[in-house]
Amino acid sequence: MRKKIIAGNWKMNKTAPEASELTEEIKQKMDTSTEVDVVLCPPFTDLAAVYRIIHDSYIDLGGQNLHWEEKGAFTGEISADMLKSVGCHYVIIGHSERRQYFEETDETVNKKIKSALHEGLIPIVCVGELLEEREADKTQSVIETQVKAAFEDIDKIQAQKMVLAYEPVWAIGTGKVATPEQAQEVHEFIRKLLTDIFDEETASTIRIQYGGSMKPDNAAELLSQPDVDGGLIGGASLDAGSFIAIINHAKSNME
Ligand code: 13P
Repeated sequence: MRKKIIAGNWKMNKTAPEASELTEEIKQKMDTSTEVDVVLCPPFTDLAAVYRIIHDSYIDLGGQNLHWEEKGAFTGEISADMLKSVGCHYVIIGHSERRQYFEETDETVNKKIKSALHEGLIPIVCVGELLEEREADKTQSVIETQVKAAFEDIDKIQAQKMVLAYEPVWAIGTGKVATPEQAQEVHEFIRKLLTDIFDEETASTIRIQYGGSMKPDNAAELLSQPDVDGGLIGGASLDAGSFIAIINHAKSNME
């Protein structure tokens, strides 16, 4: 059985003092069992402060982006090595907001994945269709292009370490959540793609999170779908109570 993974993508929210406060609250309220992987992905400027609080807990740290080069004249960018040096184990790559507003492409996503894997970071790779693509019945072809490009030149040993996140763009921050059936349908499709790209064993190892308006009141049903292995949570991860409620739903699904 794949271990569920719940990650909080804080996006561009929380100053360092606010991040410390939220992290303390999450740490205090959370029990110490390890049935579910829990990851916090705050802004770069909060990573060190958050790590100071969680380093002795089972909560992991993740970045929200990285640059594929190791170092050099790339003003404003952060490398995989830098993320590791402040305690990150994970990094989100190819979030739809980066694809939409910051010219992230399938090609740069693939470069970033390779750089993260090279440094031993676990990429959380986001894929998802726009509303007009879903309405034009293009969901599967969009997802297929994104997934195939992401895994270009990546071997199955490396692939097995990765996490995918299916985030339908129309469900992000809109309150319009995918139904559990809609989510399961795409997750199952992604798993089939992974079987075609690699093999069944690899496909059954890779965890696929759902993201897009996941909240305590819809998480249980989404997380009970056979191919939904966790959640990438935006808005609800900024509230300790909501985030922990989602983690607890994931735990009850592991029992
Ligand atoms: P919301 O949970 O706010 O819809 O955001 C989802 C998301 O984009 C997580 O990466």
